[in-house]
Amino acid sequence: MAAVSVSSRVFVLALALLAAVTCRGCLAAALSTKYYDKTCPAVQSVVRSAMARAVAADPRAGASVLRLFFHDCFVNGCDASVLLDDDVSSQFTGEKGASPNLNSLRGFEVVDAVKAAVEASCKATVSCADVLALASRDAVALLGGPKWNVKLGRKDARTASQAAANTNLPGPGSSLASLVASFAAKGLSARDMTALSGAHTVGRARCVTFRGRVNGGDADAVNATFAAQLRQACPASGGADGSLAPLDAETPDAFDNGYFRELAQRRGLLHSDQELFNGGSQDALVRKYAGNGAAFASDFAKAMVRMGSLAPAVGTPLEVRLNCRRPN
Ligand code: HEM
Repeated sequence: MAAVSVSSRVFVLALALLAAVTCRGCLAAALSTKYYDKTCPAVQSVVRSAMARAVAADPRAGASVLRLFFHDCFVNGCDASVLLDDDVSSQFTGEKGASPNLNSLRGFEVVDAVKAAVEASCKATVSCADVLALASRDAVALLGGPKWNVKLGRKDARTASQAAANTNLPGPGSSLASLVASFAAKGLSARDMTALSGAHTVGRARCVTFRGRVNGGDADAVNATFAAQLRQACPASGGADGSLAPLDAETPDAFDNGYFRELAQRRGLLHSDQELFNGGSQDALVRKYAGNGAAFASDFAKAMVRMGSLAPAVGTPLEVRLNCRRPN
């Protein structure tokens, strides 16, 4: 009897260990909204002021920072690995050069400025990953979107993975099935995926990401007037790869539910956007968000908290970086 109980205890312990090693959201338990209450009580107001300056100078800065957070959390958890430059001693090649990021991600200088303001207030205390989480929340709020309490206590990676950035981030040509799968791989639901895609209510995309869609190369229906307007700056051929268009043509710099109304009119800019409203499983949710801004705001805030809880694998060496661009 005693032998059975010892072996069952060993079994339960082994199961707990396995769960700890494989659990994707493990860090969630360690994060807390009060994490810096004693060590850096001013952090929230310092980040907010620095972001207010950046967004006042350029509203797109808010969108760019928000996207950085997504591209951070989806690659080995929210550990600010996306902010690392290529390592000078060639220990690693950074994520900035990965195909979803190259010539595309922006906002690094904004994060540097926020981090510098935080360092001036509390030296070597607040991680770049937490700075990015707070800055993203503030960006959304400053552009008119919802607010939420940010759980804190993330640490920064000492290395980055270009390979993981290339495989984990969905692209603009993705089908609905592959979008759902790439979020499911991070423990996020299809509903989270659709709500989070609502981030495309702000910001811009380059012609190279939507050329096919507006030049007759997309199987998903596209509003003809919308496509004709976009073709002026983004023709089927020519050197216009970098010309920009708003992801939400209705209200380009306002964090609202305009993006979903655009999708319902077949005015999604990216193929991956229109996939959310193309006769598939997310149509009803897109319609709901299009008609109910409060429902979108509430689901978006909850999904950001879940995405922000994605943790680096257990055992990853972590630290509080002083400069977000390089390990200490
Ligand atoms: C669902 C899968 C997603 C795909 C396929 C996708 C793809 C893209 C692409 C191709 C661009 C334009 C990049 C360029 O032309 O340089 C873009 C921009 C953007 N994305 Fe996403 N995205 C997705 C989800 C998200 C999520 C979850 C967020 C944030 C929560 C987000 C936030 C943004 C923002 C704010 C911009 C504009 C950035 C700027 O103006 O600098 N995206 N996205």
